[in-house]
Amino acid sequence: MYITSTNKLMSSFFIGVFVLLSLFGCQSTTLPVDYEQLSKEERIVIRFSHVVGEDTPKGLAARKFAQLVKERSKGYVEVQVFPNGFLYKDGEEMEALLKGDIQMIAPATSKVTSLVPEWSVIDLPFAFNTYEEVHDYMAGPIGKDLISKLDSEELLMLAMWDNGFKQISNRDHPINSPDDLQNLKIRIMPSEIISKQFSILGAIPKMIDFNIVFQQLEKRDIDGQENTLSNITSKNLHSLQDYLTVSNHGYLGYLLLMNKQFWGELPAEVQELIVETLVEVNEWEWETARKLDAEKLEELESCQCIEIYQLTPEEQQIWGDAFKPVYDYYIERFGAEYIDSLPKFRKDSP
Ligand code: SIN
Repeated sequence: MYITSTNKLMSSFFIGVFVLLSLFGCQSTTLPVDYEQLSKEERIVIRFSHVVGEDTPKGLAARKFAQLVKERSKGYVEVQVFPNGFLYKDGEEMEALLKGDIQMIAPATSKVTSLVPEWSVIDLPFAFNTYEEVHDYMAGPIGKDLISKLDSEELLMLAMWDNGFKQISNRDHPINSPDDLQNLKIRIMPSEIISKQFSILGAIPKMIDFNIVFQQLEKRDIDGQENTLSNITSKNLHSLQDYLTVSNHGYLGYLLLMNKQFWGELPAEVQELIVETLVEVNEWEWETARKLDAEKLEELESCQCIEIYQLTPEEQQIWGDAFKPVYDYYIERFGAEYIDSLPKFRKDSP
């Protein structure tokens, strides 16, 4: 099931909340009318850098956002999208944004954990079962608390985009139980919680830039990796792997971030245009992420190129129990409040 009217409402609510949290005085001007006459210097250019391919939920949404903003501002505002880490790589894009060398990025939530470690609550294994659970969590008080921590870092969060739930692949053997991960070198995103998630099970987690995972698998420096199906297929990682476990053990989504100072200097009309356009793009992105995930699973199931194993709910429970020390570790570091609000621990949950 794709976007429902509740999701539509949630999507508008999201953008509103995220932006209102950080709105502050801005210059008010009217958009110029004769845009064709403007030189490049007179137009507003927003450089948006990201590390994935164009045929992924983030890549497609970034392009759609750029196209709509250009159309609606009649060329006055130009969003230049740089995909595949062409401009800045994984470990570089946040610094470039903070320095103002680029104006927008959309890193996975895991990648902001070096700046605001509390965000690693999203990385906890089996913290969420559905996209809606993530969206509800983010729309609640804890989500607002996490967003305000970004605000203190001079970052404006404009939206949260979905990608999907992560699955595990490797080339050695099927992974059905947590013990099967013993001694496997697994590529992960830079997040201490994800690292714990694998080391607790006896695997060897390796934090490696997304853009070089293929080479690392090819060179056999790593045995496997975890990612969403659209990310795996967009980089053809499955061609170097023999086994895929559909575990859905973790959510991967993005924070659409803008340099806060840059935002504050934008004319009010441009801010409005961006916010309105993002409500539409957000809704579209959520729908596209779900569609792509389902399509990629079908493709992998029919390609006969990788052995696929789907964890049963009972097996997921066994994995969940094995991951309990990761939750204890998070609570020790950041307290229980972020965990208590997760859907499965909420006192008011059904
Ligand atoms: C991304 O989806 O932006 C990249 C995720 C990863 O590094 O695996």
